[in-house]
Amino acid sequence: MACLQEFANQIEFDVPIGRMTWFRMGGRARAMARPASVEELASMLNLARAEGWPVKVLGRGANVLVRDAGFDGLVIRLDSPAFRNIERLGAARVRAGAGVDLMPFSRELSEQGLSGLECLAGVPATVGGAVRMNAGGRHGDIGAVVSSIIVFDAATGVRTLQHGEIGFAYRRTNLAGSIVISADFDLTPADPVETGERYAEYFAAKTATQPLKDKSAGCIFKNPPGASAGMLIDRAGLKSLRVGGAYVSDVHANFIVADKTGTASDVLALVDAVREGVMRVHGIELELEIDVW
Ligand code: EPU
Repeated sequence: MACLQEFANQIEFDVPIGRMTWFRMGGRARAMARPASVEELASMLNLARAEGWPVKVLGRGANVLVRDAGFDGLVIRLDSPAFRNIERLGAARVRAGAGVDLMPFSRELSEQGLSGLECLAGVPATVGGAVRMNAGGRHGDIGAVVSSIIVFDAATGVRTLQHGEIGFAYRRTNLAGSIVISADFDLTPADPVETGERYAEYFAAKTATQPLKDKSAGCIFKNPPGASAGMLIDRAGLKSLRVGGAYVSDVHANFIVADKTGTASDVLALVDAVREGVMRVHGIELELEIDVW
């Protein structure tokens, strides 16, 4: 793509993005860009759009599976300083760039006695990725404490969206075509010992019940309304079901993990097998939580 060559310092071609995900497998991307500013991001997106290249943003890759054939488009990484800024806007209001690493961010604020992000203990993500999919767990979702966000989209440029315009719902938002630039969090001042301990308690519960050291993308399916995907898979007798190098975790059945030989095709074939099994036994259709590129 001749035009994108003008960003030679920020764009690499034929990049092994599969290895940059938590699954650490899957193919390559046609190109990957690291814009140094919002203006540069806008120019890159406009060029990609003019060339008809699909665009994806890669955060920490914790909820993404890259197909073995790779992604024939432009991957954006918002990891330059312009997107990793953390700013205090008031006593309990914080603005974080989309590229901020969510785990230390949520831990540090909890330990400082700003309550609201403890429910994200142990969730691997960037702020942008977590907002985009309304990441969370049993104790709450990130959307509950997001007051507004700044987004960019090619049609409308840079805009601020208030909480009510984002469409936060269980593991979803309406941010389909928009790229999150930053998010403002409205937190609650609290006793730092209490919030720090709560964070540590949630983190310990997560590490005790989930195979976090294995290659996976976290929970693979969304919980269907009123049910738990992990429990449904477990009760259908599918724990440890294997396709090639991918298998259902025996620690938590809603995790598909891969061994050294695992490929993205193995994971996708296993996803189909698990879905079929759960449909056969429970008559419930599971919806993927992860994003397949
Ligand atoms: N269960 C089983 N077998 C299993 C796993 C779970 O019977 O193999 C049972 C558990 O005993 C429990 C129920 O299923 O009674 C629910 O399980 P759990 O408490 O582990 O929570 P979950 O609904 O499976 C959700 C989120 C997780 C988050 C945890 C804890 C989804 C899809 N999953 O899991 O998020 O960490 O709560 O807060 O919403 C993720 O989104 O990637 C993720 C891991």
